[in-house]
Amino acid sequence: IKRDNKFGKLSKAHVKFFKDLLGAQSAVIDGVSQDATDDLEPFNSDWMRKYKGHTKLVVKPGSTDEVSKVLKYCNNNMLAVVPQGGNSGLVGGSVPVYDEIVINMSRMNSIRGFDEVSGTLVVDAGCILEIVDHFLAERNHIFPLDLGAKGSCHIGGNVATNAGGLRLLRYGSLHGNVLGIEAVLPDGTVMDDLSKLRKNNTGYDIKQLFIGGEGTIGIITGVSILCPQRSKAANVAFFGLESFDKVQEAFRAAKSQLSEILSAFELMDGQSQDLVHAVTAKKRPLEGQYPFYCLIETSGSNPDHDSEKLEKFLEHVMGEEIVSDGVLAQDETQIQSLWSWREGIPECLGHWGGVYKYDLSIPLPELYKLVEDTRERLTSVGLIGDDEKHPVVGVVGYGHMGDSNLHLNVATRRFDTEVEKKLEPFVYEWIAKRNGSISAEHGLGLAKKAFVGYSRSETMIRLMKQIKDLYDPVSRITPLLDCLMTNYTAERY
Ligand code: FAD
Ligand code: MLT
Ligand code: ZN
Repeated sequence: IKRDNKFGKLSKAHVKFFKDLLGAQSAVIDGVSQDATDDLEPFNSDWMRKYKGHTKLVVKPGSTDEVSKVLKYCNNNMLAVVPQGGNSGLVGGSVPVYDEIVINMSRMNSIRGFDEVSGTLVVDAGCILEIVDHFLAERNHIFPLDLGAKGSCHIGGNVATNAGGLRLLRYGSLHGNVLGIEAVLPDGTVMDDLSKLRKNNTGYDIKQLFIGGEGTIGIITGVSILCPQRSKAANVAFFGLESFDKVQEAFRAAKSQLSEILSAFELMDGQSQDLVHAVTAKKRPLEGQYPFYCLIETSGSNPDHDSEKLEKFLEHVMGEEIVSDGVLAQDETQIQSLWSWREGIPECLGHWGGVYKYDLSIPLPELYKLVEDTRERLTSVGLIGDDEKHPVVGVVGYGHMGDSNLHLNVATRRFDTEVEKKLEPFVYEWIAKRNGSISAEHGLGLAKKAFVGYSRSETMIRLMKQIKDLYDPVSRITPLLDCLMTNYTAERY
């Protein structure tokens, strides 16, 4: 990737400025005035080990004021930056692929306040999701987002990517739950829109641009968010099914019979579960093996009421042979164990080497067809096999069925151009034909930005460019949106 030479090069004087500003020794990791240190490595690579960064400087501001001073200095000195939260993103957006300064938010990790009556929580952007959720659990509340990376991702990163996760079907998107945002604009201006109001129709809702904005127009430093009451009763059931038609029937039945207590409906295909089993060697939840599995979670305020509903639902789906087999967790340990067969998929797929990840919105009836078509395409050219000669280990589908969000993943022994050529733009063309989205929840990042035209019209892309230009006239924050106008139909190879 070509570096834009309008950006300045880091000097020892720049490093001295940041060290003086941030004071604490651990707040600056410096590979400029001293030899590159191993300490920079975790900030220079992503969770998938797919993207490699080249930063020589990581700064960790401890307050909004420090973020503002850092950005103002970078702006005045034409230094490019990339905001980084927990670095768990899956599209390469948090990686300093050129030599940007990493602005890491981990020192901004205070919970600013929580109102138990309204459920309004105000946090620093660098708070880790799991820590916040534990804080809320002690107060009988829940964060309205949950995902497999909860142990490392930051609330700021979640908001910047508009993460969807496992319970969106129940609690809705962050666009609805986030009440306010405090952010620093590229020139250092602090935008204090940390409202706690549920309703506020006084002009444009500018904070929405930062939700899912992937750090392209500013750095989020604080978030206020509405958190629901934690349910007293939680149940998890895991089913094996014979076809994708049956999965759709089960989803319809769950919506109509479990209705308001349904909190997750997740899909896993047989091959994804085979690969999890191959890596973990854990005992499978069901005796037999099936082409499809789904995990259904309910949460409600009255355990008896929930059990009654669930029993009727189980009777229906078993009696009508919609599901072939199923198991209902009997305690918290079993709940966690069943969830691990779903949440553990991303990590297990990485076991062999590289994974090509596609995070797609597809109309439900055709959701799984893409997995079949992709598998057929790679099989027909002999790329899939059990030995080293074949780069592809497996083509799997899983995801948030309740949100029509499929994760198509191709697990490989190594990142391989031949495989990539067969997948792209094939997958994006397939999606565009069905008016789907090439990124349902992970964002564009570096991985998808050149393909945005498959999901957005020229007019929408132009409007996005105008917003980027307005907030960041010289592209000093992540230059992610720079390429939005790329002619997406052009051959990449
Ligand atoms: P990072 O990876 O550090 O950054 C992500 C992007 O946000 C980058 O562009 C970065 O520049 C920007 N950014 C980070 N912090 C800020 C900030 N304070 N201000 C402005 N910009 C910022 N995603 C889902 O939507 N649903 C899932 O179910 C899901 N499950 C996952 C499971 C696993 C195992 C993993 C590894 C990832 C998963 N993800 C999922 C991906 C998801 O995007 C991230 O986990 C999470 O939202 C990113 O948070 P982060 O703090 O790690 O951000
Ligand atoms: C998930 O739902 O598990 C995440 O979005 C991560 C992934 O797509 O692998
Ligand atoms: Zn997901």
